[in-house]
Amino acid sequence: MRLRALVMAVALVISMPAVAAGLRDLAQAAGIRFGAAVDVEALNTDAAYAQLLAREFNLVTPENAMKFSVVHPERERYDFTQADALVAFAEAHAMQVNGHVLVWHQQLPDWLAQGQFSQDELKAILREHIQTLVTRYRGRVASWDVAAEAVAEDGQPRDTFWSRGIGPDYLALAFQWAHEADPQAHLRYNDYGGEGAGAKADGIYRLVAELRGQGVPIHGVGMQMHVSPDDAPRTQDLRVNLQRLAALGLATHISEMDVMLPVPASRTNLNKQAVLYRDTLKLCLAQPQCRSFSTWGTTDRYSWIPEFFPGKGAALLFGEDGRAKPAYESVRKVLRDAKTGTR
Ligand code: XIL
Repeated sequence: MRLRALVMAVALVISMPAVAAGLRDLAQAAGIRFGAAVDVEALNTDAAYAQLLAREFNLVTPENAMKFSVVHPERERYDFTQADALVAFAEAHAMQVNGHVLVWHQQLPDWLAQGQFSQDELKAILREHIQTLVTRYRGRVASWDVAAEAVAEDGQPRDTFWSRGIGPDYLALAFQWAHEADPQAHLRYNDYGGEGAGAKADGIYRLVAELRGQGVPIHGVGMQMHVSPDDAPRTQDLRVNLQRLAALGLATHISEMDVMLPVPASRTNLNKQAVLYRDTLKLCLAQPQCRSFSTWGTTDRYSWIPEFFPGKGAALLFGEDGRAKPAYESVRKVLRDAKTGTR
């Protein structure tokens, strides 16, 4: 009887389909983190979304939940409902959290954008905002996008609500305030359109080099990588960019990648998309300073692209139905082939 039970148990185990490791496990073996931006509403209401997130990713960035207008809707009131839910989910699934975003000129609440504040008042408001968030999540949010999109297309400092209101040192101040609130946190600058060669890439480089030179606590740079098959940086240019940032002593991150396609997406474009994801991830893996690779969402169903770029979509690794696309398979292959222990 005993033998028979054993044989049956063994037969059962052998016949079970092998559970494939998620991208997060392959990424961990390859020495990077694999991340996604999270729509907290979807996380709370769509069980399949939550499951896919937990299976494939080990780094999460709140897509909106920590933005100023969401988390600090009135001057005297913060709302951490969504942010707390995301951090709790991440902890329950052994994921790191990247906080996003402390100083940005978009998604500001009306009380702030329409208020009449003096320079000193604005400094006090920003300081309190940054320190409230970073202190609340000290030790739980591993990295922060402290500042984003502070460089204009021509490479000059972007003229924004913050630069006008506080002056050019608002960036240095923001990093210092965040660092005071959590000295262990990895602090990043995050931008788009500066991944390849050109004035903007040079402007971003100059900005972070200057901050480093001044001893400002900045530790990493995120390259967003919102691209399309017709408009993507040349691989060689991205490589040079990542290298020169690393030479400043900074970590680098592919922070928000998606590859928008005309919809419905053609087979040809889905394959081009797979190549772009593959090449970008390969580059990141080839550079020891490139620490993480994140996509701006998980499934095409919740992607920001169709709303912001009408006629475009299908930008992520998973389709609207949650199925893996060719891009997923290509990313998976790169991670599987990555040499372990070299980073
Ligand atoms: C986008 C979100 O995905 C949208 O849901 C929101 O309405 C607008 O912002 N770069 C960034 C992100 O750093 O914060 C932006 O997120 C996308 C571009």
